[in-house]
Amino acid sequence: MCGIVGYTGSREAYPVILKGLKRLEYRGYDSSGVALINNGLKVYKKKGKVAELEESVIGKDLHAHVGIGHTRWATHGEPSDRNAHPHVSNSGQLAMIHNGIIENYVPIKNDLLKKGYTFSSDTDTEVLLNFIEDIKKNNNCTLEEALRIALKRIVGAYCILLVAADDPETIIAARKGSPLVIGIGKGEHFLASDASPIIEYTKEVVYVNDYEIAIVRPDELILKNLGNEKQTPFITKLDMELAAIEKGGYDHFMIKEIHEQPDTIHDCLRGRLLAEHGQIVMSGIEDHLEALTQAQRIVIVACGTSWHAGLIAEYMIEELCRIPVEVEYASEFRYRNPIIHKGDVIIAISQSGETADTLVALEKAKEQGAFIFGVVNAVCSSIARISHAGAYTHAGPEIGVASTKAFTGQLAVLAMMALKIGYSKGTLSHERYLQLINELNAIPEKVKEILQDTSHIQAIATKYKDAHDFLFLGRGYNFPVALEGALKLKEISYIHAEGYPAAEMKHGPIALVDENLPVLFVATKDSYYEKIVSNVQEIKARKGKVIAVATSGDTVIPSMANDTIFVPDTDEVIAPLLSVIPLQLLSYYVGIAKGIDVDKPRNLAKSVTVE
Ligand code: G6P
Repeated sequence: MCGIVGYTGSREAYPVILKGLKRLEYRGYDSSGVALINNGLKVYKKKGKVAELEESVIGKDLHAHVGIGHTRWATHGEPSDRNAHPHVSNSGQLAMIHNGIIENYVPIKNDLLKKGYTFSSDTDTEVLLNFIEDIKKNNNCTLEEALRIALKRIVGAYCILLVAADDPETIIAARKGSPLVIGIGKGEHFLASDASPIIEYTKEVVYVNDYEIAIVRPDELILKNLGNEKQTPFITKLDMELAAIEKGGYDHFMIKEIHEQPDTIHDCLRGRLLAEHGQIVMSGIEDHLEALTQAQRIVIVACGTSWHAGLIAEYMIEELCRIPVEVEYASEFRYRNPIIHKGDVIIAISQSGETADTLVALEKAKEQGAFIFGVVNAVCSSIARISHAGAYTHAGPEIGVASTKAFTGQLAVLAMMALKIGYSKGTLSHERYLQLINELNAIPEKVKEILQDTSHIQAIATKYKDAHDFLFLGRGYNFPVALEGALKLKEISYIHAEGYPAAEMKHGPIALVDENLPVLFVATKDSYYEKIVSNVQEIKARKGKVIAVATSGDTVIPSMANDTIFVPDTDEVIAPLLSVIPLQLLSYYVGIAKGIDVDKPRNLAKSVTVE
């Protein structure tokens, strides 16, 4: 969601910014633009893809050594050329890009209108920019000071980059709630929403904190808080290779990321799951073992696919640790005045570590004394930083909008957590602990087995690609997998799909079943197996088309299903790590068969940094 890039240094700024914007395309956007400074401001912006912006500026003067660029995901005002960023102030002297939402922009806009300011867009960003300009004029102060005053008066979230026509060296940046990374080069600086536009130039970065302002010039990076006090920039070394954010021979990032899963799960387990010693080593847990084992309640807070991982964790933790678990949509949790007791443990699950609803929910819980444990993929992200403790999923950058490898990484971390806590608490026997460690250790090879030949899944996708609706059913650990399968299909094929607990299907969705409705059962061999066999029969009796994900060697489910996809056998506690893979592939192939841009499906954003 909204990508930000800035450059100041001796290179030509435009190519750096353009490439950066392309690297950020995965976040989801609907228009883009750049502002360059060279003998005044030059601003170019365009609705649509970055490639359309690129085409529209052919032949234009693009020479500059400082500039800012933006991909916009519409919040205030439709996607259009005029609502695209950068915005220019009334004097024509300032240009700004913004990621986030200014909540009190209406009264500010009304005041500015009374003063004679005019607006050429519907955005809150243009209001903030003119507000800054007005403060600068009235107080006769520097741009930095005007920004500081403005930021103290606004309510909302922001990452902004600001440039002035008369200063062809400086970018002023500020953040609260929306991410900002600054790459440090030799006599140059790169600014971006995440490290992907920066990685090919430098690995030394500074993650700007909330309520900080950065004054960035080729040879200088000054960080200050809103009280105008200098802060020491904390330089971090990026642990990421360029190849991780490129397609590497695959047609799409999504299929590359699906195929990476044997490695990403292995990376996640490496050094933590010591199968040969029958041990799990996780410092984030060991350092806080008391808080975790003594927790009276665990609340899991997340959104989207991460929320589904949370539901699976609920089954794992309640079974293995006997601690009551609640799984909350972050967006609901943050607004409903939740009851939080001191000593409650909050587990935050997030791929990006920047999801606004999750972040704010955590801030609230933290204020009320909860202990926050982050299960996060993006290293040094905001959620990772506000957590008291945590465990990274180590899945590497996930670029495809639909989450795949991050989800299985989350499941692997959550399984290790449940095992470790349960065993330490004594709710999990040594024998069962060892059994599950060994099963988990075997997962990467079993995922590889599923991925060896996917042509059968592709054929099933082709067969059902024209369906209007889909039902996904599962029980126990596979119920959240059904939800995830439905979400995946919706996201990248635009087919309406619902996930349900297979037994609950009788209380409504069964009315939809006829010979046209494909019903996908996640029906692997587990303690619910006999029950789900009956559910399959109930659908067959109503002529529904059954697609089943079944355990290799099973003959009962395949004899009833129209199509079966087999997965290797494993323990039911970790079965979702295998049963979700065919669902990811099915969605991918349906999306492809329908000609959809699966990496960037319409309206979706990878990192949802507005509420
Ligand atoms: C967006 C993405 C989803 C993701 C969700 C939560 O909707 O498109 O793939 O599951 O945000 O994101 P997070 O980064 O917090 O896991």
